[in-house]
Order: sequence, then structure tokens, then C-alpha cells
Amino acid sequence: MSGRVEISGAKNAALPAMAASLLTPETVQLENIPYVRDILTTRRLLAEMGAAAEVRPDGTATLTAAEIPHPEAPYDLVRTMRASILVLGPLMARFGKARVSLPGGCAIGARPVNLHLMGLERMGARCEVVHGYVEASAERLHGAYVLMDTVTVTGTENLMMAACMAEGETVLDNAACEPEVCDLACMLRTMGARIENDGTRTIRIEGVKNLHGCRHRVIPDRIEAGTFAVAAAITRGNVVITNCVPAHLHSVLEQLERTGAEVRAGEGTIHVRGRDPIRSVDVTTNPYPGFATDMQAQYMALMTQGDGTALITETIFENRFMHALELIRMGADITIEGGQAIVRGGKPLSGANLIASDLRASASLILAGLVAQGETVVDRVYHLDRGYHRIEEKLAGLGAVIERISR
Ligand code: UD1
Repeated sequence: MSGRVEISGAKNAALPAMAASLLTPETVQLENIPYVRDILTTRRLLAEMGAAAEVRPDGTATLTAAEIPHPEAPYDLVRTMRASILVLGPLMARFGKARVSLPGGCAIGARPVNLHLMGLERMGARCEVVHGYVEASAERLHGAYVLMDTVTVTGTENLMMAACMAEGETVLDNAACEPEVCDLACMLRTMGARIENDGTRTIRIEGVKNLHGCRHRVIPDRIEAGTFAVAAAITRGNVVITNCVPAHLHSVLEQLERTGAEVRAGEGTIHVRGRDPIRSVDVTTNPYPGFATDMQAQYMALMTQGDGTALITETIFENRFMHALELIRMGADITIEGGQAIVRGGKPLSGANLIASDLRASASLILAGLVAQGETVVDRVYHLDRGYHRIEEKLAGLGAVIERISR
């Protein structure tokens, strides 16, 4: 594969940004919003609650939550997108009440929301689970010290939004440092919030009475950029990835270099040249700035082409190796032992009919399909459409032979 590919806005930054529009009756204008399924689901969620919500294919969104007669996230929406839980913090901050369905079982493990609720309770909310819904209420939230025993990205985002209009100071300890958390903090500051030390493990928020509207451009998607970097490496290609922030991909790019790929980071660009042989190198997923769990499946596809054995250790989510079973059906030699996958490289892959199990697993199977002999058919691509904008067009632009078949 060779050529240039432009990265879309980050889904995982756009989702909390859209939820943050609930914090003010004024209009919020967003730019660089990826036109993917999860974004459209969030638009629908905001609209069903009573907001005026418009998202356009050009990446702009106009959101006005003047009044919210139904501060509720129903099960049929939360079921398809657990990030719907992100409305809980803003609704509590502004209205002091919210009813949000619990996400329920998820294909990549348990994924609880206990820390979101614990934090809100520390801030004075009452949270009850009734008929599968979290019902939360409070007079006005107050500042609190909240120590999260696990690093949680949406948990940190939810509590940061809740704390913005709480009375007094909130300290979020063992907070997530992901770039998406910093992007949200940046947007909230533009809305008038007083937030300090985002990007570190201890975030401080001084509550203010009101937030106002804003215009905010969300950061580029580091996972999409990473996926194309792996596509270049696995195909021994030569790809320039544009509209990205190389610093957000530090651990992924360093890992790719260890496997033998040539990586050059420029101003908003990353140039990746795949090289032979691909070296097998172990990796462990970790919270940012560690190697992202959202890149683990793609990296496993690369390691099936490695010159030795690689141990992939998943520490964030249990049961996030479903793609391995499909890769094995293509001829890969992978053994799963608990949270570790042992990938013995060097086996040629052959095209097969595959079923995608989740968003990043779908990307992994496509990457494997790029180097497999013969044709690969990936079913249930709706998972892919949740987070990648026109991935087949972008890959085809780089020389891949790929098409979407509607059935
Ligand atoms: C976010 C990302 C997702 C990414 C993940 C980890 C969004 C919309 N999604 O998901 O793409 O894979 O971060 O980087 O940004 N946990 C608890 N209790 C809680 C919350 C989480 O125990 O209340 C645990 C989870 O089970 C998991 C770990 O914390 O083991 C991290 O999960 P978390 O960071 O919350 O993931 P999400 O925010 O859902």
C-alpha cells in the first residue's frame, strides 16, 4: 500500500464533547467530528432528550440543549453504545437528576460503571439502580476528593463534567491522562470551566455557577492513525498519514519501530514504511501513555507476520481476544492463556469468511485480509462503522482491493 491518507476527528473525543453540550443552554459548535455510527447515535440520544442536535457529513455539529425535558438515556441506545453513560455527569451537573440505562453485557468484558457512580456519590448524589437504570439525583453537587482505584477514561470524563458546576473544589485522583480527556478539559475551559492539571493523574476542578456555549475543534483520531500505521507495516507499504498528532501515538510508533518499520513523525504527519522482516516483539496494553488496548487487535494481526514469537498481554479488558479466533481460522498460530496471547509468526494467512466481534477486532481482520492469500470476507462490519469513517475508501485510496458489499 502506498500514498497519503487523511485521519478523521477522534470518535472518543467527539463523544464526550457532544455530551458536554448538555452543560449549557447556549449553542455549542463542534468541528472535526467523524461522521460515524456512534456519533449519530449520540446525536439521536441528545435529540430524544430534547436538545436541538445537528451533525453534518462535513464534520461540523451544532448542539443546543436549551431545555432538556427528558434527562434520560434509554436502553435501546445505551445497548448499542455504552459511551451513552457520558450524559450522566453533565445531566447531574445541570439538572441534578438523570436516568441512564446500565450498559449491560459487552463483547469485550464486564465494563462496569461503578467508579462513575462512586464519584457522583462522593459529590453528594444519590444513585440507585432500578429496573436496569441508574437513577441519580442531587440538590446541587458539591466538590469532593475522588480516588478511582482503576484508571477509567469515560469515568474521568463523566466526573470532570459533573464537577464543573459543583460547589467548591473537586480533585480526581488516579485520573486518566488520555489525550481525549485533555481535549474535553480544553473544551470545558472554553465554556468557562476552571480545570487544572488534566493530562496528569490528579485533576483539579473548581466549580463555577454556569457554563456558556463555545466553538471547539476535536483532536484527530489516534487509533485510526495507528490502524493505518499498522496497515503500512503489515503490507510493507509506504504511507503518509496526515491530519494527526504524532505525540499522541508515541508508544504505538515506538513499538512499530521495534518491529522493524521505519517511522518518521512530522508536523501533523506520520510517514511509515514497512520493512522485511517484521520482527516479533512483545507488548503489554496499559493506560495512556502506554500502548493502547484499542491498538491491541491490529498489532496482533501484524504479529501473525512476525519472524518469531510475540507475547501480547492485555491488562485493560478481560476477554478482548475474540479476533484471535478469527485470525486462527485464517491460518495464524495463536494460543490464548488468560490475558495473554502467544502469537507465533511466519505462517502465511489465507483468505476466509470472518465475523467481526467488535470495533477494533474488525480493523484487525481487515489488516490480516490485506496480506492473506485470496479473498477475505468480513461480516458484521456495522462494528467497524461505529468508529471508522469510510475505511474501505481510505484503504482503497492506498491501493488495497476492498469493497463494501451490501447484502
Ligand atoms: C474508553 C474508550 C475505549 C477504550 C478504553 C480504554 C471511549 C468512548 N472509549 O472506554 O475505546 O478501549 O477507554 O482505553 O472513550 N472500570 C471499572 N469501573 C468503572 C469503569 C471502568 O472497573 O466504573 C474498568 C474497566 O472494566 C476496565 C478499565 O476500568 O478494566 C478501563 O475502562 P475505561 O477506561 O472506563 O473504558 P471506557 O472509558 O469504557
